[in-house]
Amino acid sequence: QSTSPDYRPQYHFTPPQNWINDPNGLVYYDGEYHLFYQHNPFGNEWGHMSWGHAVSPDLLHWEHLPVAIPEFTNPDTKAQTAIFSGSSMIDKGNKNGLCPTGTKDCMIAVYTGNVTKGDQQLAQYQNLAYSADKGRTWTQYAKNPIVDIGSKEFRDPNVFWYAPQQKWVMATVKATEHRVALYESKDLKNWQFMSHFGNVGDTTKVWECPALMPVPIQNEKGKSRWVLFISAGHPQADYVGMQYFVGTFNGKEFKLDPANPRPIAPSVMNVVDWGKDYYAAIQYNNLPTEQRGPVMIGWLNNWAYANHLPTTPFKGAMSLPRQISLKRTRTGLQLIQQPIEGVTRLRGDRRIQKILRLTNQSQPLDQTTSNAYELELEIVPGAAKTVGLKLAKGPKSETILQYTDGLLQLDRRRSGNVSFDKRFPSIEEAPVALQNGVLKLRIFIDKSIIEVFANNGERVITDQIFPNPATGDTPSGGIELFVDGGSAVFRNITRWTY
Ligand code: FRU
Repeated sequence: QSTSPDYRPQYHFTPPQNWINDPNGLVYYDGEYHLFYQHNPFGNEWGHMSWGHAVSPDLLHWEHLPVAIPEFTNPDTKAQTAIFSGSSMIDKGNKNGLCPTGTKDCMIAVYTGNVTKGDQQLAQYQNLAYSADKGRTWTQYAKNPIVDIGSKEFRDPNVFWYAPQQKWVMATVKATEHRVALYESKDLKNWQFMSHFGNVGDTTKVWECPALMPVPIQNEKGKSRWVLFISAGHPQADYVGMQYFVGTFNGKEFKLDPANPRPIAPSVMNVVDWGKDYYAAIQYNNLPTEQRGPVMIGWLNNWAYANHLPTTPFKGAMSLPRQISLKRTRTGLQLIQQPIEGVTRLRGDRRIQKILRLTNQSQPLDQTTSNAYELELEIVPGAAKTVGLKLAKGPKSETILQYTDGLLQLDRRRSGNVSFDKRFPSIEEAPVALQNGVLKLRIFIDKSIIEVFANNGERVITDQIFPNPATGDTPSGGIELFVDGGSAVFRNITRWTY
């Protein structure tokens, strides 16, 4: 494995060093967005799970902080507790008295304690820790665990404030039963079971990282529906991905929305991201701009090959923060994901090309100096068979984004280094309907990351790529437009360096 500075994303979050997976404890407090994350402080593959920590004033520029919650060993039993995924919240006024008396507001983390001894897994239950200094240092609650059902597959607590009943709600998964279990609490310490939801959608993989929240409906002022996100299967077997359910939540039970006609039978899923590299996303708690709807961040990776990525000294990245909404369509309420508005503040030099008509040919756009940019364009495919772009094009590699037969495809089979895992080379495929004959694309390229938002966020494809050469004087920043089987128009092509 070679050192790979040119694979390190410039504007997506990566840790200074070592392994990361899920984002954890996303919470805003007092001018800071916190990003905790699953982290191995001691190595560049999964292990010693602890919560790493970073803070940001804008969700885009991150300051790295020391490990926030390290794994720990029970001195008597020698059992080890790893700090698995979970969420953070603010107990305003320290009402529940977890933090020392006099603490203004208490930051709380609810996470899964994964307890092992040697090679033996002993338990998975929900623990609580608290911080009186804005998440810098944490104390484990003396009466942990707070929820224990005697299971070894019970994890990823997603806790949020439910204002109508002035209480906290926790969604957890019974991973191998493909069920979400909902709990309630008035004080974050004592929790009561409320209800189950599950065994619908994709149940081919364990269910992980539930995220439950109200999501605003576009163009319907004040209206929202509850959406439950689950990290589970993928439209292609052998990979993990995320699905979502639209429904109602009355404070006790989450139910599928009968007015939302999307068929939800086992094996039929609502796909969140049609790429391979978006997983374990959760929402921010305590956002200053709650009325705009949830913001989520996901782990930009896939368990299929995550441990084998050809990057050192770090492994793993986070997605751009995504603003979430719902849009009413003929087939029901559809999830819409857009990068947060603030991302445009990263825009540097701009180049515009108004219009380009191509007939059975390809046309390079001028070479970028760096493979970190945003590209926006509209494509009018007309009667052409295939239209698209070759991205991250270098002398020895390219990634193809193309539209053909109503499908938006991302082909990374020749994207560069694909040999580190046999499941890495792949084609992603999302059904996309043209809007008045137009396909709108907003593409974020960031060294080893490509995030594609199609038709204003109706479809998203997120993938990692490792272009060749990773280093050297030939950048892999080439862009080429192409049309096969007819002619098509590309217009409003705008590119910003980042
Ligand atoms: C999801 C996950 C979670 C678990 C964590 C362990 O990627 O498997 O279910 O809490 O990662 O690192």
